[in-house]
Amino acid sequence: MKIPEEKIEEVRSASDIIDVVSAYVRLKRRGKSYVGLCPFHQEKTPSFHVTPDKQMFYCFGCQEGGNIFTFLMKTEKVSFVEAVKTLANRAGIELPVTESNRTESTQHEQLFRANMIAARFYHNSLTQTSEGEYALEYFRKRGFTDETIKQFGLGYAPRGWQALINHAAEHGLDAEQLEKAGLAGKRDDGSMYDRFRGRAIFPILSTTGRVVAFAGRQLYDDDTLAKYINTPETPIYQKGKLLYGLSMTRDDIRKLEYAILVEGYTDLISMYQSGIKNVVATSGTALTEEQIRLLGRYAPAVVIVYDADSAGSAAALRGVELILEKGLDVKIAQLPEGEDPDSFVRNQGKEAFLDLIDDSTSFINFKASELQKQGLFTTPEGQTQAVRAIIETLAKIPDELKRNFYIKAIAERYDVYESTLHRELDSVLRKQHRRPRSFNEQRRTVAADDTSSEPAPNDKPANQIESFSSAERDILKLLLESDREVMEFIFSQVTPDELGNTAARSLFEKLFGLYRSSGVFDTSSLINNDDFSEFSSVIVQLLAERYEVSERWEELRGFEEFPINMQLAIDAVRTLKKWIIKQRIESVRKNMRETEKQGGDSIPLARDMQILQQELKLIDQHYASLSKKPM
Ligand code: UTP
Ligand code: MN
Repeated sequence: MKIPEEKIEEVRSASDIIDVVSAYVRLKRRGKSYVGLCPFHQEKTPSFHVTPDKQMFYCFGCQEGGNIFTFLMKTEKVSFVEAVKTLANRAGIELPVTESNRTESTQHEQLFRANMIAARFYHNSLTQTSEGEYALEYFRKRGFTDETIKQFGLGYAPRGWQALINHAAEHGLDAEQLEKAGLAGKRDDGSMYDRFRGRAIFPILSTTGRVVAFAGRQLYDDDTLAKYINTPETPIYQKGKLLYGLSMTRDDIRKLEYAILVEGYTDLISMYQSGIKNVVATSGTALTEEQIRLLGRYAPAVVIVYDADSAGSAAALRGVELILEKGLDVKIAQLPEGEDPDSFVRNQGKEAFLDLIDDSTSFINFKASELQKQGLFTTPEGQTQAVRAIIETLAKIPDELKRNFYIKAIAERYDVYESTLHRELDSVLRKQHRRPRSFNEQRRTVAADDTSSEPAPNDKPANQIESFSSAERDILKLLLESDREVMEFIFSQVTPDELGNTAARSLFEKLFGLYRSSGVFDTSSLINNDDFSEFSSVIVQLLAERYEVSERWEELRGFEEFPINMQLAIDAVRTLKKWIIKQRIESVRKNMRETEKQGGDSIPLARDMQILQQELKLIDQHYASLSKKPM
């Protein structure tokens, strides 16, 4: 089908790229454009930009770019014509229909069509035929209302071996096409049969709401196949890339800013019917990376409803570390023994379920309390083991601020030194950095520097920067990338001896010296400056890392008129000052324990402690007041 140029223009101008892209990517406004995590490659910090002015998108990470049509073509894997049609539909624009329309449709379109025809057939068999009455009764017994049955397009596959095949033929769809769509099988003698027979049918929809597959649940006792059978994978259905229910629940997930993750089709449907609509289901498989990425586009947090006695849930929990790695928050809500979300919400109702969600605990706490239940915290050896296990998980969280938050919480709750936890974490992180964990990370490293070979794993400069504390790293980064104001602020607040790391301190000293002798310096000149030759690699790395920090902060703080680098500087300085005090607090605390153990008088130490605590508060107050008013 050829769509006239002016129609294409009409569709283009009636559509808003931000609107369309938002259905796939969580976008945040940044100045004139919007940014988010790229849907075309895997990334942790957003490099995907959409400019409403130009109605274009571009990813600085993978160089994918284009307009609203190419965006849909790439995400939905449809032809240009299909993309135009979809948008025309959305905008309520009618396109001229031509004869060749059907023949030109892509292979995917044929698969979509086969699934659509099957979905209507199954639904019809459920609601309009006498054979379907048994299944209808079954759904009703499960508490599904007629409206729910309609909303989810539930159906019934008749027992005959060729019911769907015969029906499809009436629509000009032959058995071969059904086979391609996974809806029919072929015997050795070439004859064909329906895949789903005598089963309750759950259509599985793509994220945009098109039927791509089915699950069929056993209904009759003489059916000896598995409880659920599924459409096998086809070009439009990849099990691990979909989440059941998402097309219906994504708006609620976006609105509530978290998703509830359950295992079963019926779990999701019952919850939805009860009014809890921010749910997705994995359908019994372990959570995949793709599914997590998908979820991450809609919400920053996931609550997994954990069914205490199901082996399946163990599989779901195995995916948790993956979720953490993607930077999403994970909480666990625990059901009473013997219940699944479906039965719980039906028996106890929506409010009880929401209470359960309110009581959910962070995955880190969940893991810690599981270890505690196993009695690990009662012996020193056990504690070491438990700390290690918790830190392994904690290390998956990419956001340093969040990690620090958990470290504090764990230190307090299980009476472990914060410094012990930090030390353990540093060592795990160092190990991780040495060996790229995934193919993608590996590729990124190579792409960033494909002319020279990768540095040997134990290269000194690489280790140097990892041994900096985050505040040290931020302060140096800010000195290198910011303007006069920020530089002056940092040098007025920080003295070299406040940096604990030797390499960080000596770089700071050198920069300070340069600033004192010649004022504000130009970072690019440092690379060729002999005085800085030993730091050239550190400098390059600091600069390369810069987006990471700024973006994290933008997320936390939103957009204030106040220059972002100044905010960052204030926070980095504050963190550094507090870090110094905290180290002193730790050492006083240790002293107190020792003194008490030996029966000595710890009161003077307690007083020191109080003063230090007071100092921490003052630092917070001081820097908080700075960051509120522009300077
Ligand atoms: P469950 O066995 O917990 O079933 O499997 P359920 O969801 O509670 O279903 P009902 O209430 O008995 O009808 C959880 C999920 O695991 C997948 C399905 O997606 C199911 O919803 N599953 C289970 C299969 O894919 N195949 C099976 O044979 C069993
Ligand atoms: Mn169930």
